[in-house]
Amino acid sequence: MENILVVGGAGYIGSHVVKMLAQQGYQPIVFDNLSKGHLAAVKGYPFEKGDLGDKTHLSKIFQKYSIKAVMHFAAFIEVEESIEDPSKYYHNNVSRVLNLLDAMVENNIPYFVFSSTAATFGNFKQEKIDETHLQLPINPYGNSKLMVEKILQDFDKAYGLKSMVLRYFNASGADDSGQIGESHTPETHLIPRILQTAAGKLPSIKIFGTDYPTPDGTCIRDYIHVNDLASAHILALEKLVQTHQSDQFNLGSGIGYSVAQLIKVAKEITGIDFKVEITPRRKGDPAVLVADSTKARDSLNWAPKYNLDRILETAWNWEKNRKY
Ligand code: UFG
Repeated sequence: MENILVVGGAGYIGSHVVKMLAQQGYQPIVFDNLSKGHLAAVKGYPFEKGDLGDKTHLSKIFQKYSIKAVMHFAAFIEVEESIEDPSKYYHNNVSRVLNLLDAMVENNIPYFVFSSTAATFGNFKQEKIDETHLQLPINPYGNSKLMVEKILQDFDKAYGLKSMVLRYFNASGADDSGQIGESHTPETHLIPRILQTAAGKLPSIKIFGTDYPTPDGTCIRDYIHVNDLASAHILALEKLVQTHQSDQFNLGSGIGYSVAQLIKVAKEITGIDFKVEITPRRKGDPAVLVADSTKARDSLNWAPKYNLDRILETAWNWEKNRKY
């Protein structure tokens, strides 16, 4: 069985990948400092509590387990916070990743799968964003992820470290089992906030801006189920091992939904007519982000399985019976 080190494996996306790796015959080793992650999300898997700042600890882990590849999920992800406190983002999302990559090179770990983001593209210049789209982030969060993408290109050339860069659009939904799901503190993401409003945990859902250049004036995003992201990680890892060539993929459903549309579907699925308020725009939000994932579909043979209804159903099931 091959050992895969999953950094940030106790977090939202990481924990779903851990579960799928195990289901597909890999041995995930979870590495997490639990600053955001949840131990309950990774019950039953080998767990190492640690921090990416500690290279000695990382080297020990590489020596203790024979690690085939590293997957990295341990990032800060809030756009607005990144504008207010960029230093936090550059330290965590760049410096610490650099530390991890150095430790990998020193210990001859050949493969890295990196969570990047649609936020590296900034404002879109074409209807759907494929891998050739210009990368001009409009916030420090996007900058921090793009910096690591560049570092990875240079590390490949200089040290032969091979990587897959996966740029997620909007990760959403929860595992069908209801045992793991999204749990951020504070929760800033649209779908969990909508469902917390439906559950009576928030007084209303605020729409951040109705004056965007979109058909209904609210922002459009491409929501992709967390298990569809997980399956793309495993396919990307297998492709990387097979071809030994670094590559990048945009991961989304290819379908854009506005904030107002999402609220409407969520009301139908929950059967609850919760309160909606309109507020000014949030800082750093592009109007539209929709993926063209043709490359991932063709090259990785990846096909998302969950539509928007299923995303909302699984997220609602999680919200009603949260384990953490
Ligand atoms: N929104 C609201 N009300 C809320 C929360 C969000 O109107 O209470 C709006 C936002 O303004 C945005 C949309 O809903 O237009 C989606 O917002 P999210 O915070 O759910 O997601 P983002 O698109 O801002 O960001 C997410 C991830 C990032 C990633 C990005 C890529 O958090 O890490 O998707 O598209 F980079």
